Amino acid sequence: MSSLNPNPPSHVKNAKLIVWVADMAALAQPDSIYWCDGSEEEYARLCQQLVDAGTFRKLNPAKRPNSFLASSDPSDVARVEDRTYICSEKKENAGPTNNWMAPADMRATLRPLFEGCMKGRTMYVVPFSMGPLGSHISHIGIELTDSAYVAVSQKIMTRMGKAVYDVLGADGDFVPCMHTVGAPLAAGQADVKWPCNSTKYIVHYPETREIWSYGSGYGGNALLGKKCFALRIASNMGRDQGWLAEHMLILGVTNPQGKKYHVAAAFPSACGKTNFSMLVPPAGFDGWKVTTIGDDIAWIKPHADGKMYAINPEAGYFGVAPGTNFHTNPNCMASLDKNVIFTNVALTDDGDVWWEGMEQDGGGLPAHLIDWQGKDWTPEIAKATGAKAAHPNSRFTVAAGNNPALDPEWDNPAGVAIDAFIFGGRRSTTVPLVTESRTWMEGVYMAATMGSETTAAAVGQMGVVRRDPFAMLPFCGYNMSDYFQHWLDMEHKLEESGHTLPRIFCVNWFRKNEAGKFVWPGYGDNMRVLKWMIDRLEGKAQGVETMFGIAPLFDEITWTGLPFSAEQFKTVTSIDKAAWAEELTLHAALFEQLSYHLPQALIDTKAELAQRLQD
Ligand code: OXD
Ligand code: MN
Repeated sequence: MSSLNPNPPSHVKNAKLIVWVADMAALAQPDSIYWCDGSEEEYARLCQQLVDAGTFRKLNPAKRPNSFLASSDPSDVARVEDRTYICSEKKENAGPTNNWMAPADMRATLRPLFEGCMKGRTMYVVPFSMGPLGSHISHIGIELTDSAYVAVSQKIMTRMGKAVYDVLGADGDFVPCMHTVGAPLAAGQADVKWPCNSTKYIVHYPETREIWSYGSGYGGNALLGKKCFALRIASNMGRDQGWLAEHMLILGVTNPQGKKYHVAAAFPSACGKTNFSMLVPPAGFDGWKVTTIGDDIAWIKPHADGKMYAINPEAGYFGVAPGTNFHTNPNCMASLDKNVIFTNVALTDDGDVWWEGMEQDGGGLPAHLIDWQGKDWTPEIAKATGAKAAHPNSRFTVAAGNNPALDPEWDNPAGVAIDAFIFGGRRSTTVPLVTESRTWMEGVYMAATMGSETTAAAVGQMGVVRRDPFAMLPFCGYNMSDYFQHWLDMEHKLEESGHTLPRIFCVNWFRKNEAGKFVWPGYGDNMRVLKWMIDRLEGKAQGVETMFGIAPLFDEITWTGLPFSAEQFKTVTSIDKAAWAEELTLHAALFEQLSYHLPQALIDTKAELAQRLQD
């Protein structure tokens, strides 16, 4: 037991929690323990503490009330997939797409790193609910962290605070999430603005449902409710308990007659998920409404009434700032007008924020900025050196409550009934604008083989496809082929228990023409595709059979307000046989990689696809 008395407040009654906090304090040896209550007063106090420490800069309240800018260490700017581990007892249960180490070896590796790792710091106890408090779909986590930045971010990103302890009770269960920036302070040592460690470990023990994170203060590495719990650990819970934890946004679509549908959509990182979840229908769609339930993660559980219900386990958005503007995402821009934590964007001379893409809102480029690393930035410097004012992975952290398009049901503990799943990659060729799978099996195949093309800047090679099955490549907490099997098993389980299966669609907003230009306008115009899906659900659009599902006819898309020719439509929907033959060899390579436990049904479906291609 710790020599530091954990001294829990009287409302904390959970014996397991009290013992765990004491044990972790004994290990990490913080100077003090602070139990977060989630109050506004606490948020304001911790933000002020971060301002005093130089981690936060308060933005001009006349421009961005109650908002802050954090600048991270330049080495700590993104999730670290190569340092992320799934430590299952057996290597094959982590599968070929995850880093693995035996749990005992990892514990032996981490122990010396965590010993005394919080010296000179406060350990914050952060209680949070993933999902509406008390919902049968929700789960509780407790994060211990030595970062006040994490504590305030968790207040925005989760339902964080005292009420969690009421749900937890004396013997409720929680996922323990241990986090340190890995930068202990010796007596009298001055702190830096963004403490972190060049050694990083983001570790998951799926069997014991634990998360241990070392060395980073940034995003998914540190806000452990998000990717670590809500996807990697929860995907294991979902498999064991018969539900789905998915890298999916959730949106509501209401038609002019007032009938509402709900769709959940998976896209790889950096494919515009937040934009799609906040879509504003274009002119000509009077009476249609799109509302946001979630922008990144969905937990979906079958219910006795025969439907699958989804909640957004998160309570805020941790979105990429660059590229966000009033054209690409007006609702998001409106969400960011107050009460925001920005990280690694640029600072304007009048104390506001700026990022690449904002120049398209009419103001052009600012004459001068302080870039995300604190250096002077001007359009001339940018032109000469290519310097970005905001880091490409700079972020906003904002409560869902700020979103003007927030769905009134977003916090409903019962969740919303899902009518359709959408899977979308980023492909300049092959995958058509939209098709509907003929069967659940075909839908699972589409999702299993989806991919995203890397941009030239990232890899130096244009058009390299990174396969990202179900957009879960970095987030599936167990063997990917077992995850495919879990999806396939859902069909029979749900049918046997009288459930209606959601329909499955595959989309690709990113087809290019021969000149290398995007053809589909995307953003708000994606409503046209969404409407076709609803027409399919309502039996109003017949579509046409293709090799890869059922596609819309040109006349089945509502074109009001968009000059888009049948020729252009062909460019985004055509199926090039030679390109698909090549594509199928890439599917084969993926299946080869995932051959352990790969469902035979996927191999059979590939053979059918190849046959249709030949016919
Ligand atoms: C995210 C991601 O930050 O998918 O949501 O990387
Ligand atoms: Mn994501």
